This record gives sequence, C-alpha cells and structure tokens, in this order.
Amino acid sequence: MKFQAPKGVSEYFPERSIAFEKVRRELISPAKLAGYKLLELPVFEDTEVFTRGVGESTDVVSKEMYTFEDRGGRSITLRPEGTAGVMRAVIEHGLDRGQLPVKVWYAGPFFRAERPQAGRYRQFYQVGIEAIGLDDPAIDAEVIAIAEAGYRNLGLTKFRLDITSLGDSASRAAHREVLVKYISKLDLDEATRARVELNPLRLFDDKRENVVKMMADAPLLIDYLTPQSAAHFEKVKKYLDKLSIRYAINPRMVRGLDYYTGTAFEFVHELLGAQSGLGGGGRYDGLMESLGGQNLSGIGFGLGIDRTLLACEAEGIDLTSQSRPDLYVIPLGEEAKDFSIKFIDDLRKNGAIVDCAYGDRALKGAMKGADKSGAKFAIVIGDSEISSGIGELKNMETGVTSSVTLSAINSKSFN
Ligand code: HAM
Repeated sequence: MKFQAPKGVSEYFPERSIAFEKVRRELISPAKLAGYKLLELPVFEDTEVFTRGVGESTDVVSKEMYTFEDRGGRSITLRPEGTAGVMRAVIEHGLDRGQLPVKVWYAGPFFRAERPQAGRYRQFYQVGIEAIGLDDPAIDAEVIAIAEAGYRNLGLTKFRLDITSLGDSASRAAHREVLVKYISKLDLDEATRARVELNPLRLFDDKRENVVKMMADAPLLIDYLTPQSAAHFEKVKKYLDKLSIRYAINPRMVRGLDYYTGTAFEFVHELLGAQSGLGGGGRYDGLMESLGGQNLSGIGFGLGIDRTLLACEAEGIDLTSQSRPDLYVIPLGEEAKDFSIKFIDDLRKNGAIVDCAYGDRALKGAMKGADKSGAKFAIVIGDSEISSGIGELKNMETGVTSSVTLSAINSKSFN
C-alpha cells in the first residue's frame, strides 16, 4: 500500500524547502526590526472564535472550515486564518492590559477546504503580524511597510500594492443604505441574495461576468467615508508617500474576511495568474469586542509563504545558493575519519557550512558526492595530509587546487 498526502496540501522538501525557509525568514525579519514579538498559538480553536471573529457571510466560514467534534464533544476548527486566534489569546492572557500597541508576529500552517489549484492549497503557510490597541494611521503605514520590506528583501519587484478604506461603522452604514437600494434593483438568484443580505459588499467580489457588469455603477464605500475615516486614510497615504511606498487606490477591494474596517490592503503579483494575492490585511476595529474583549482597534497582515515562493520562482530569483556547503570533506581511511570528525566540527563552530563523505566511500564515489552537494570547495584527507598537516583545497567551480595548512582553514577560507 502506498500512501499519498491529503489532496491539495503544500509540502516542501529539499531543495525547495531551503527556498521556503528563506522566504519565511525574510518575511519575518522586518517585523522583528519593528519590535514585533513571537506569539505561538494552537492550530485549532473553539469553532466560535472563527464564526464570530471572521464572519458567517464569508466563504472561509461558510464553506471552507475544517470543523470536527473532539473526543470531549467540543466543536473544534483548524485555523483558517490567524487574526481571530491572536485576539482570543490577547484577551485570554490580558496582553492588552500592558503597553499598547501589543505587537506580535506568527508563522505557521493554516487550513481552508478550498478547491486546490496552483497557489491555492488546503494547508498553506502564512507569516502574520498584528498591532493591537491603537488607532494611529502611522501604525497602518508601519504594517504595510513591513510587508513591502519583506518582499523587497527577497528581491521581488513585479508586484503592486492596492489599498482602500472600508471606513468606520457610520461610513459603512451610510454606504450600506445606498448599496442595498442599488442591489435591490439587480436581477440576482436566491443564493446570492441571501449572501448579500449578510454583507452586501461581498457582491463586489463576485467574479461572474453578469454580476461584474451589474456592479459597474454600484456606489463605492470610499465615497461615503465620514470625515474622521477620510482623515485617517489621508494620513495613511501621506505616511506611505513619506516611505516612498507606491500604491494604487482600489475602492472595489473586498477582503475575504468580515472583520475589516478602515484601511485595507493587498499585495498582488503580476505573474501568478488566478491566485495572485501574495498577502493582505487591514484594520479590524470591532474584532476584539466581538470576541468578548475591550473595544480596541487593531491592524495586521497575513502573507502567504507558498505564493511568495511561487512569485520568487516566477521572477527567477534563486533562494537556495546561500545554503550550499562551503566545504565537502573526503576522509580516506579510519585515522583520517577520526581526524575529520573533529576538523569538521571545529569549522562548523566557526560558522562554515561543512558536509562530509560519510559511508567510507572510495575516492571516485566520494568526489561525485562532493559534486552533487554543490559545495564550493572539497578537500581529501588521508594519512599524508594528517602527517604533514597540509592538504589540497579544490575549488569545485574552477577545478583549481591550492595547498593549505589544515589548522589554518577557517570559515573565511571559502570566500
Ligand atoms: P487572507 O487575505 O485571507 O488574510 O490571507 C492572507 C494570504 O494568505 C493571502 O494573500 C494568500 O497569499 C495566502 N492564502 C490564503 N488562502 C490561501 C490558500 N488556500 N492557499 C495558499 N495561500 C493562501 C488573512 O488570513 C488575514 N488573517 C490577514 C490579516 C492579519 N488581516 C489582519 N491581520
């Protein structure tokens, strides 16, 4: 019997896993520089965290959750996103009672029972950050700048940033009134009407051609912002300009989760086809209260690691080169092996990446191993090298060898 991974999951194994790890690291590092600290959370939560937090009108909650009863009869859901769980933890542990904003980052697997296709998986990976407790537009700009810095660190260039404002509750109420009136005149099927009743904005997200046409003249939320919401958005844009971050205003953007208010944004990659959303986020002013906490605002993002890796590959960015071994050691004979084990350990402690021809292979096979490892240099260590203390360091790219004193080799010898 041959087992296969469950349908639609993303898996990473060498060499691609090296690139995956690099993407994750680069996406996290700007958040650390801005003072965000790790929050490590469970991958499953009480189902209600998501039904209340993310919203019943969303596909994520209504169609895509992996929900099951645990052995104690509790309804459990594998996390489809990170923000609701972060909020649950912040409230439960009283993190919002200290200095604000609470700044956290997280990374890990998320689960949505979507129809799998390139760039869309049932288990996928995100790096996320949340800044909770202050409604300062400078934090909106910080959060967006952190995401942008992650993509730039990786060398990505073919992406754009869309932003909009979904306003405060008064803005949305004013817009909802005119939008509902507009929608009531459209020719829609029952299922669509039911969805629209929960959240009329969802209709902007409908990809069906006739719906897109019908929505072409629909009133836009951005035109109904209260002066306060409009002023907040103006400041976000001003700060982004100061940071030289380019953006496009996309007033038809609808995020897939219901908790958003105010600033919302998405990074979209040019070369990824249908699943082009690299990452996105926004403000969520009512979320904490809806989960039983105080009435504090927050903002954050989730960046898809899988799609960011696909984007790097589409742009031809090589993320694996830095993990090549510096040196591949080939010990010949028992005494050489004794020596090499310590020699290799010392070099690794000195910061070099060193691999070895294990398995007591003959020279020819071991040299093939050196080739396959992609190592920059190789060295053969036999009885004569040990007695003289001198070896031949071979540059694997040029084939040139040079005599070196073994005890003088250190991590700088491979630059
Ligand atoms: P989201 O837009 O649902 O936001 O997901 C963020 C990113 O996760 C997407 O842009 C995409 O790159 C990736 N992603 C989502 N679903 C899949 C999938 N099925 N397969 C592969 N990648 C996927 C959130 O999850 C919010 N929690 C972000 C946030 C944090 N907002 C505020 N704070």
